[in-house]
Amino acid sequence: MSWGAPPAGRPWRALFVDDEAEVLSALAARSRKHRRDWSITTAVGGPAGLSALAGPEPYDLVVTDLSMPRVSGVEVLAEARKVQPRAVRFVLSGRSDQKMASQASLAHQIFGKPSELEEILRRASLALAVGARLQSGEVERVTSGEGIPKSPKVFAALHTALRSESYEPRMAARIVEQDINLTGRVLRIASASPLGPRRSVTSVRAALVALGRDAVEQLVLLEETLSASGPGATSEMRDHALAVARIGMRLEPGLDGVFTAGVLHDVGRLLQAEPDAPGGRHPELGAYLAALWGFPPPVVEAVMFHHDPPPNPPLLAGTLWAAERIAEAGRRGLDGAESLVGAEAAARWHEAALSLAGSEPQSVARPRQGATA
Ligand SMILES: [Fe+2]
Ligand SMILES: [Fe+2]
Repeated sequence: MSWGAPPAGRPWRALFVDDEAEVLSALAARSRKHRRDWSITTAVGGPAGLSALAGPEPYDLVVTDLSMPRVSGVEVLAEARKVQPRAVRFVLSGRSDQKMASQASLAHQIFGKPSELEEILRRASLALAVGARLQSGEVERVTSGEGIPKSPKVFAALHTALRSESYEPRMAARIVEQDINLTGRVLRIASASPLGPRRSVTSVRAALVALGRDAVEQLVLLEETLSASGPGATSEMRDHALAVARIGMRLEPGLDGVFTAGVLHDVGRLLQAEPDAPGGRHPELGAYLAALWGFPPPVVEAVMFHHDPPPNPPLLAGTLWAAERIAEAGRRGLDGAESLVGAEAAARWHEAALSLAGSEPQSVARPRQGATA
């Protein structure tokens, strides 16, 4: 599938707000390459940002600096949510610590300076393209509604820290430990892991050493998205997400994004007051959330198609579909897999499903290295 081109007729519109004129002129110069897909407006300072938002043209994307004199980025984000409720909201800031992340809670994603304009536009394009598939009113509900799960910012910061060349367990642990509730939940599950250490895990640093970076990162994602996100998140939903994630890893060990897609697959249910049937709207809503939060296209696609994949789906989407079916119906769920994904993958999955035998314990096994998004 291809994502990222605006609907025919008009480019997407972006507003960049920053108090440093040089930052904006550099962005404007770079943006010329993208003028077929993007029309970019710049505003120097918060007050100019607010007047741009009040103008007649709607914006698809608003990107703001955070610390600016007079009108801060937080105010720009709040105004954007009010007057441009369909717009995707990003922060592009010189600071990127945890305090800043909590200030920027209205932002869907946070980028540190310098960030590539291409990366910012690419992520926004994915969210906008997925959003274009939603029904009227659904985009606003997700981008501006109350009670929507917050983007997993601890996960995002940890993901970056764990891949940094200067990775250091103590620093990475500190990112998680700033959220006391999240830390408590992660340590509880880490201690209960059958493959973890015999003694209980009492610090995030110890969890990183004992379980490995990927496992801790995945636990943080699970806890941050499904446990702390309001009344819609039930323990059954969390257990189901974890079961699907684990089955996915058994079907295609080492496939990038398989655990992440499993954890996120039903996140769209959190946006609905009523339970949704498999053919309902939660896959699209969840895919839109995943795209807004910056997950890569294969994960977003897999969430979108987890009940109803196209023929010959991408491997991750097919795997997530199969994991969901096995979680719901055991091995019988794989009936029809061959016509969808071909004989080879279907045979592999049947064999893995046999070994699962429906008796998976409900705790986290140690995931393989390299199995994250
Ligand atoms: Fe689902
Ligand atoms: Fe599900």
